[in-house]
Amino acid sequence: MKEKNTVGVIDFGGQYSHLIARRCRELKVHSEVVPSYTPIERVEELGPKGIILSGGPASVYQKSSPKCDPKILELGVPILGICYGAQLIAMLKKGTVKRIKRREYGKTKLFVDDREDLLRGLPDATQVWMSHGDRIESVPGSKTIAHTPNSPIAAFRVGNAYGIQFHTEVAHTAKGKEILSNFLYGICNCKPTWTPKSFVKRIIPEIKNEVGEGRVICALSGGIDSSVTARLVQRAVGNRLTCIFVNHGFMRKGEPQRVVQTFKSNFKMNLVPIDARQRFLEKLKGVRDSEEKRKIIGEEFIRVFEEQAERLKKIDFLAQGTIYPDRIESAAVGAGASRIKSHHNVGGLPERMRLGLVEPIKELYKDEVREVAREVGLPEEIISQHPFPGPGLATRIIGEVTDEKLRICRDASAIVEEELRKASLYEKVWQAFAVVGDDLATGVMGDARKEGHLVTVRIVESVDAMTADFSRLPWNLLEEISKRITNEVEGVTWVSYTVSSKPPSTIEPC
Ligand code: XMP
Repeated sequence: MKEKNTVGVIDFGGQYSHLIARRCRELKVHSEVVPSYTPIERVEELGPKGIILSGGPASVYQKSSPKCDPKILELGVPILGICYGAQLIAMLKKGTVKRIKRREYGKTKLFVDDREDLLRGLPDATQVWMSHGDRIESVPGSKTIAHTPNSPIAAFRVGNAYGIQFHTEVAHTAKGKEILSNFLYGICNCKPTWTPKSFVKRIIPEIKNEVGEGRVICALSGGIDSSVTARLVQRAVGNRLTCIFVNHGFMRKGEPQRVVQTFKSNFKMNLVPIDARQRFLEKLKGVRDSEEKRKIIGEEFIRVFEEQAERLKKIDFLAQGTIYPDRIESAAVGAGASRIKSHHNVGGLPERMRLGLVEPIKELYKDEVREVAREVGLPEEIISQHPFPGPGLATRIIGEVTDEKLRICRDASAIVEEELRKASLYEKVWQAFAVVGDDLATGVMGDARKEGHLVTVRIVESVDAMTADFSRLPWNLLEEISKRITNEVEGVTWVSYTVSSKPPSTIEPC
């Protein structure tokens, strides 16, 4: 069942294409990003009520610049071109676009000339954000609806197409939300139907339909994506869903118990917890190289999962928590097939076991997954927990993974999290944990000098994990964390704090 209120975002390689789509969704209108070369038939299949042409780094008059099928302008639905998209509309309407001497970049004052539709409700002058080196000089048959000192045609209307030279989607454009909302509701006649409630209502019959009388298996890690997936599939097919929870031994403190409690006891899910701790640890004996460790953990995970899947005999589908950004390799979006989420570590399994894929949250951005999580009743501690890598604490243990280092890493990390929560800072930071390697340092306990482990605390701030900054925490909080770790975690004598950001460092040490 297709979402009826959809807007297509045609991506010309701009850094903000997904931000545009997210802004539409924040206004409760479903939107989907497709690359510029998407065939017109596929765009039509979306059944869009409007189309937004994104920005992009190229110049429209260059031969090699990305173009969309010009028939998009003839689909009969309203079009909004943003920056490059506006210039493209101008070109397709036989107008002129020229390079300007000085790029217009940053905050600019926009003067509104026409408030009939797109700019309805805007003041005479408002701040917008510009980033362009080309200027629209003319668009035959158009009406200019706003200008800036540098762009006489900063916004125009031509038939049912609108072009704006500035970016509505960024926070620096003061009335960006109002403009987008005018386009979506006033011009495209969209309805605010994209809500977590309506998503759940739509997706459950869809899963039912897809699975029929089949049986589904799901690798449940306790992370938000697999948890939401499992809940949705459970709501659709009940106990024809079996979840496998592989405890590889690298979970956070209390996590395995929490997963079993939440899903088996509270949600009455068909959950098979597998204690594979010894098995993983044995495989990692003597292995120091981080890539090698990750590879071993990934392979062992598949083996354990596969054994369990085979034991269950008749299984038809694998449910997995692929989300929208996982599918964004631009070309892959919309092609229907998404790659297996790497950290689920079950790549290859669907083909080998001839399983169909059920991916109920593949249309969602991460913040939408969180909202749906609330809608399906997941506890707040799962919803607001920090991201946690598939190989778990093993990525935070430098050198060989041993029982002793795991204990230290787990207990020290729990203290870090606890102290951050106490200081109401847990949700302000991206990730926070302890790292342990083989370095020993001398400490004094009472009168005795004693060697113990050096534990490094890593706390970072980030928006998407692509870059990260170490968190500038108050000294007294760091002091408390350090004191508690050396007092409460047996075998630790020193605590240090990382002041490395990403790049050049990564977030996880291994
Ligand atoms: P790095 O260490 O590369 O991490 O800066 C970036 C983000 O990715 C997470 N991460 C992983 N997540 N499986 C995952 O699901 C993995 O193997 C993995 N390795 C790193 C990391 O925690 C950080 O948020």
